[in-house]
Amino acid sequence: MPPRFSYRGFYIYHKKCYNTQVNIWDNLPKPFLILAPMEGVTDIMFRQVIARAGRPDLFFTEFTNVSSYASEKGRHNALERLEVAPTDSPIIAQIWGKNPEHFSETCQALNSLGFSGVDLNFGCPDKHVNKAGGGAAMIKTPDLAVECFRNAKKSTSLPVSVKTRLGWSAPEEYKTWLPILLTEHPAALTVHLRTKKEMSKVPAHYELIPEIIKLRNKISPETKLIINGDIRDKIHALELHQKYPEVDGFMIGRGVFANPYCFTNHQPTREELMKLLKLHLDLFEKQSQKHYLSYEPLKHFFKIYINNYPGAADLRAKLMETHSVKEAHKVLSSL
Ligand SMILES: Cc1cc2nc3c(=O)[nH]c(=O)nc-3n(C[C@H](O)[C@H](O)[C@H](O)COP(=O)(O)O)c2cc1C
Repeated sequence: MPPRFSYRGFYIYHKKCYNTQVNIWDNLPKPFLILAPMEGVTDIMFRQVIARAGRPDLFFTEFTNVSSYASEKGRHNALERLEVAPTDSPIIAQIWGKNPEHFSETCQALNSLGFSGVDLNFGCPDKHVNKAGGGAAMIKTPDLAVECFRNAKKSTSLPVSVKTRLGWSAPEEYKTWLPILLTEHPAALTVHLRTKKEMSKVPAHYELIPEIIKLRNKISPETKLIINGDIRDKIHALELHQKYPEVDGFMIGRGVFANPYCFTNHQPTREELMKLLKLHLDLFEKQSQKHYLSYEPLKHFFKIYINNYPGAADLRAKLMETHSVKEAHKVLSSL
């Protein structure tokens, strides 16, 4: 008997395909553009602002600590950080830590939180993170990094990727460190082209891209290679792609501060930037009705929207004096 068509059967089939077979990394344009994870910046509110300006092909969350998720005390906060908005999709959850069991526990939970993938942060240079054995400190404990990666992969049906740096102190360390990661066949590998020691103080080592491509092609050709560091905008990413067509994607971090429309070719007007600022304020207000949020850190964003025109510094100074969204709106409406 041929199988009979039923809507329920179709639904289950579709859901199964959707959940288990669609790998986001195989469904992106080439090259694809990503908004880099940035702690204190790329939260649920700012991601919605960028989605309005011109979205990247993929978002990442700020990083969330796996041991925080695994603890009763930290879980609530971890889940708050992992909240996503409808305009975020597709979005990758980025996690960090050093406890392999906690990677498993967190990855299990991530299966059902609306993410398209999980990314392990093996590159953060922050001294507190490194002291706790996480981020770039993983470069110095490669066996532990591999154990965490394997645990993550075993615990989730989502594709698992890694974001890292060239090495801890010398750029040449990439020759041993990247093969260790590629041997685990991550779905994607983002390389911030600097060492932990270099922080962001030297230009990104674009000259190493051809060698990194060779390593990827030799060890794990199915891994998507993403390049990160000093990429200003879409035009810059496309220039790099012309030069290095085998790179699959480009990740932009601080470029978004210079132009929140950096994922488009658009140079925004003053009015457009002002509209984005008002949107950001409204999103903050809405989010703070759900969770406690401090207003002070919001002020760091003002210079993104108000700069480079006569009177911008004065306006920013007035906004820096405010203590609430209501006060900020009052300043803006008096213009
Ligand atoms: C304020 C700030 C916060 C960051 N937080 C994270 C993070 O949570 N996870 C991560 O992998 N990288 C983080 N980074 C690094 C960026 O993702 C990116 O690798 C780095 O800024 C280099 O890219 P860029 O030159 O395009 O900015 C952060 C960078 C900045 C400036």
